Amino acid sequence: MVVALTFAVAATTFTSHLDAGSLFPRTSCSASTPLSCHNTTKQTNLCCFESPGGSILQTQFWDTDPSTGPTNSWTIHGLWPDHCDNSYSENCDPSRYYSSITNILENAGATDVLSYMQTYWKNDPNDGSDEEFWEHEWDTHGTCYSTLAPACISSNVEGQDAVYFFTRVVNTFKTLNTYDFLFSQGITPSSSQTHTLSSLQTALKSAYGYTPALTCSGSDLNQIAYYFNLQGSLIDGVLESYDAPSGGSDCPTSGIRYLPKSGSGSSPPPTTTTTSAGTSPTRGAGLPNKATLQSSTGTGCLLSYGTWSTQTCATFTFSGTLSGFTLTSSKGGCGVQGGILTCGNENEGTFTALSASGGEMSLAWGGSTTFSSDAVPSGQVQERVYTGSGHEKVLSFIIS
Ligand SMILES: *[C@@H]1O[C@H](CO)[C@@H](O)[C@H](O)[C@H]1NC(C)=O
Repeated sequence: MVVALTFAVAATTFTSHLDAGSLFPRTSCSASTPLSCHNTTKQTNLCCFESPGGSILQTQFWDTDPSTGPTNSWTIHGLWPDHCDNSYSENCDPSRYYSSITNILENAGATDVLSYMQTYWKNDPNDGSDEEFWEHEWDTHGTCYSTLAPACISSNVEGQDAVYFFTRVVNTFKTLNTYDFLFSQGITPSSSQTHTLSSLQTALKSAYGYTPALTCSGSDLNQIAYYFNLQGSLIDGVLESYDAPSGGSDCPTSGIRYLPKSGSGSSPPPTTTTTSAGTSPTRGAGLPNKATLQSSTGTGCLLSYGTWSTQTCATFTFSGTLSGFTLTSSKGGCGVQGGILTCGNENEGTFTALSASGGEMSLAWGGSTTFSSDAVPSGQVQERVYTGSGHEKVLSFIIS
């Protein structure tokens, strides 16, 4: 009795601290199996070699109309096993269409995965529920993985194949933070700014190391796909990145908008909270009275004249609300003159704060958090800060 009780308590503690991905046994696939789409001979063990869907795409949405998911994160679309020649199979095994992904994940103890999906894997509410979207992704794409076929899995858990699939999708998505990749290159959502396709691709390649494919709805950026080959099984094999095939993107070459997730374009205004002046649109974080303005590049911050430098950061006073405030340094009020950020020239203007990654907020002028300078400062050098992305080094300033 005592022994049994102790065991039960220990087991509960054990599972609650584990990522669901580690709850499952590893496959016996050999590390010398070739990478999918890279075999030179016919492979016979398709439990350890993904085929024919060896070109795996992690697809994400940036939904702004209506907005879905956190305002500072892209959301999951799926993980698709395309063929090596970019064709694909779909709906491969109707005998494994499950009636409730939610129940399968709950019964398997994969509640971490489920709760992550509830936040980051969102259906367009006009199209149906999140559960319906998950079922669609499993039925259409998940059942096509050769390495998740019933013959590859021995388990009494109902829907174990789907549990492996959803766990892998979530774990893969977590490594592909598109919002942060773009943010790190000074690209943040804006209702006015436009981008060229090549500038977005270059920014993503700089931040991530490989070029993903981008898809637009009209001229609005709304999907991304990261490409992988797989060594071993989808359950626990290694996903190796590669550059999206040329022509994989479907956006105009210029004039691309990366719209904010709420309150712009044709999106309805957020209806979830009744906001009064000064109430934050970023879930609880308010405007500080005093803060520094740190470069999103990780180097330097703003000085009291509004220049960018690695010298001691100026402390700015914020007066107003997140949706409209004045900024003052020891030199005086700040504003923009001739496209240049300056403080102390009696040119005080109204700034706003927009939410950035990790719950941080960035300084915005004219609704855009994008600023640029001619070079990254070092030593005693101060660089002028311009609004927009017209100069060599593009960045944002984090209110910190
Ligand atoms: C790679 O293996 C798959 C699965 O056996 C096979 O269909 C394909 O023809 C192989 N490719 C080469 C080049 O042998």
